[in-house]
Amino acid sequence: MTEKILLVDDEKDFLSIMSERMQARGMDVSTAASAKEAIQLAEVESFDAIILDLQMPGMDGLEALKILKAKKPEIQVILLTGHATIEKGVEAMKLGAMDLMEKPADLKTLTEKIKKAQTKKMILVEKQTEEKMKEQEIEAGKLTSVGELASGIAHEINNPIAIMVEEAGWLSDLLNDEDLANPQNLEEFRRALNQIKAQGGRCKDITHKLLFFAKKTDSRVREVLINDIIEEIVSISEERTKDSKVKIVTHLDPELPKVAASPSEMQQVLLNLINNAIDAIGTGGGSIEITSRLDGEHVIIDVADTGQGIPNELMNRIFDPFFTTKPVGKGTGLGLSICYGIIKKMGGDITLNSSVGIGTTFHVHLPAPKSENQSHQ
Ligand SMILES: Nc1ncnc2c1ncn2[C@@H]1O[C@H](COP(=O)(O)OP(=O)(O)O)[C@@H](O)[C@H]1O
Ligand SMILES: [Mg+2]
Repeated sequence: MTEKILLVDDEKDFLSIMSERMQARGMDVSTAASAKEAIQLAEVESFDAIILDLQMPGMDGLEALKILKAKKPEIQVILLTGHATIEKGVEAMKLGAMDLMEKPADLKTLTEKIKKAQTKKMILVEKQTEEKMKEQEIEAGKLTSVGELASGIAHEINNPIAIMVEEAGWLSDLLNDEDLANPQNLEEFRRALNQIKAQGGRCKDITHKLLFFAKKTDSRVREVLINDIIEEIVSISEERTKDSKVKIVTHLDPELPKVAASPSEMQQVLLNLINNAIDAIGTGGGSIEITSRLDGEHVIIDVADTGQGIPNELMNRIFDPFFTTKPVGKGTGLGLSICYGIIKKMGGDITLNSSVGIGTTFHVHLPAPKSENQSHQ
């Protein structure tokens, strides 16, 4: 593959000789006569390597390197210098330079380094793309799990709305027909208004909770109290199970150390597991028990349901993306694959036990910070 490089030097003669020689070696060469020009070019074009003169008037090579790396971490920079000092070399490496070479650079060595830079950049770009895809997948999965939740609790919003509409109708009847000054009618008026207020409040609570979960996923890691997250998710899931025969019970260890995690990703994991548990229980009724506990160096969350269970032959497929046993429109098969991705990224693990007809327990193992651990032992 043709190497696409950018030569940066304030000496015009050097630039033209070098670019001629590199082109003769089959490279696609662009040039810039100053650091500023180089930065502008690098912003709009993608180079495999940037060969940067260290000493330039105005902005020097190190300054330019710093800016380039901040803008595009995948950029590979080889610095050229008339007289390299060890300190400069160390500083360049610290700032992320790929290499530092003395002028006049041996073309064969430089070419080898450029090829190396090309490979390195390709790997970095691939990694960035992969990470971006993973982020998008988590984001999409989040919307799916919120969607599952929302359709599950839609009737929770429908009920209060129906009551409000009824009461409002009753109020307008009263206004049309009756003598409002009649104390009994006034009392009726107040009662209906209060009912509308209370039911409206119920709707607001539910939509607030939903919107809270639909927020864009923030994958930044911080110290989180797992119990708080469990309680939040249980409170919204209870909206979904309110009218069904599903009970959600928690057993939370109050001594649990904090865990390094992204709160919104942890919410997503729990929401997916609870959504699945509710589906597995179905209309027959049952219970979901959520336990948090410390086991050696792991904080463990168990989500146990008394649902239909998972047949052995399906066990190693349930984490596959798009594997679902649910009808079209209900299952997407993304929930568990996203849980798996999130937990593995944190250095944790997700395991399960299941018996058909008895139930399923998922165990989420999260690494706990060691120092915190010890204070509890
Ligand atoms: N708690 C559970 N009990 C029984 N089966 C489950 C449970 N959790 C997951 N499964 C099985 O794993 C499959 C994949 O789950 P998931 O990735 O969340 O996708 P979806 O819920 O959209 O089907 C489900 O379709 C179901 O067959
Ligand atoms: Mg699911």
